Amino acid sequence: MADNKVYRASTTAPVNIAVVKYWGKRDPKLNLPTNSSISVTLSQADLRTLTTASCSASFDGDSLTLNGQASDISGARTQACFRELRARRAALEAADSSLPKLSTLPLKIVSENNFPTAAGLASSAAGFAALVRAIANLYELTDSPSELSLIARQGSGSACRSLFGGYVAWRMGDKADGTDSKADLISEASHWPNMRALILVVNAAKKDVPSTSGMQQTVATSGLFQQRISQVVPANMILMEEAIRKKDFPQFAEVTMRESNSFHACAADTYPPIFYMNDASRAAIRAVEAINAQAGKTIAAYTYDAGPNCVIYFLEEDEATVVGAFHRFLSGVSGWKASAAEAKSSVELPENIAGILKDGVGRVIQTGVGEGPEKTDEFLIAEDGQTVQR
Ligand code: DP6
Repeated sequence: MADNKVYRASTTAPVNIAVVKYWGKRDPKLNLPTNSSISVTLSQADLRTLTTASCSASFDGDSLTLNGQASDISGARTQACFRELRARRAALEAADSSLPKLSTLPLKIVSENNFPTAAGLASSAAGFAALVRAIANLYELTDSPSELSLIARQGSGSACRSLFGGYVAWRMGDKADGTDSKADLISEASHWPNMRALILVVNAAKKDVPSTSGMQQTVATSGLFQQRISQVVPANMILMEEAIRKKDFPQFAEVTMRESNSFHACAADTYPPIFYMNDASRAAIRAVEAINAQAGKTIAAYTYDAGPNCVIYFLEEDEATVVGAFHRFLSGVSGWKASAAEAKSSVELPENIAGILKDGVGRVIQTGVGEGPEKTDEFLIAEDGQTVQR
C-alpha cells in the first residue's frame, strides 16, 4: 500500500517596516536589489502570518491557500522558493537514505494573517518569510535564517528581512548569482526593546502602483535614483547601523525620515511620476514635525512604503506624548490599545492637520519591535491533511 502519511510543520512570521528603503532591482529574475536596506521587525502579537506546510503522496499536486482563498502558485517567485527548498531537502535525502523522500511529495500550504488584508499593509514580506520558514521546518533543514533569506528574497525582496526579529539588514551583495544578497541581524529586539510603532491606516481611493513594477519604472527613468543608490543609501546604511548599535533615537529618527523622503522623491522623479502618499499621509508628516517641535527634541519618526499608510516609530518613554497627540482627535477609529485613552499629551496639533487626519485615517495599529519566526503547534492543516475550518 502506498504511504499516504501526512507530514506537517507550522510557523509564524512577522511584518517588517524598512527604515533604509529597498527600492530598485539590479536583477529582477533573481530579485537582487540596487541597494542594501534595514528594517525593524514588528511584534507578531499585532501583525503576523501563520503558515502550515504539509506534504503527502495523497495530495493532488502543490497548492497554496491564503486567507481562505486558493492562490496561484505558478508564478516564478513561488516556484523559485519551492524549487530551492526541495533541492535542499533532496541533498539531505541523498546524504542519508533513511530519510523519507519528502522532496518528491506534493506540498499543501495554508496561510493566514492576523490582520485584515483590507488594511493595505504589505503582507508579502511576512507571507513569503512564513512560507519559506514553514517548508524549511517541514523538511528539517538545518540552514540558518540568513541562508533561508536567500530563498525568501526570491519570493519578495522585503521578505528576506522577516526571517529575523529585531533590527535587520539586507546586504545587497555584488555577486551576479545573488549568493551574497541576504539578510543578517544587526541587533536582537532585546537590544533596543522599547522601540514602538503607531501605524495610521489611511483610506486609499485607488490602488497604488505595485512595488515590483513601481521600482522598475524608477530604475529605468529617474535620474535622482542614481544619486540615491550611489551616495544617499550607502551613507544612510552606516548612520542607521550606528544609531541602532548606540540606541540613538534622534539619529535613528532623522535617517528614517530622510530615507522615506528620499524614496518618495525618487518615486515622484519616476517618469511618469508615482505618488504613494496622499493628503492624509502628508498631514501625518506635519503632525510628527509638530510633535518633535513641541517636544523640543526628535521623539517621533514617520516612514511610508509603497502606499499612503504612515508608520510612526517612537520610544516607549514617549508613548503618552506621541500616542496621546493622535488619540485626542482619532479616538473614534478602531485599533487603539486600552492605555491610549489615558495617554496625556501636551502636544497640540494644528487644527487643519488634525482635520485632514480625522477624515483620512481609517484605523490604527499600536505595536512595537518584535521577534522573528516562531515554530508553533497551531496547525491550519489537520493530521489527515484536511484544511482546518476556522
Ligand atoms: C517600499 O519587497 O514588496 O516596502 O521584491 O518586488 O516583492 P518585491 O518588492 P517588495 O518591496 C518593498 C519596498 C518597500 C521598501 C522596503 O520594504 O524596503
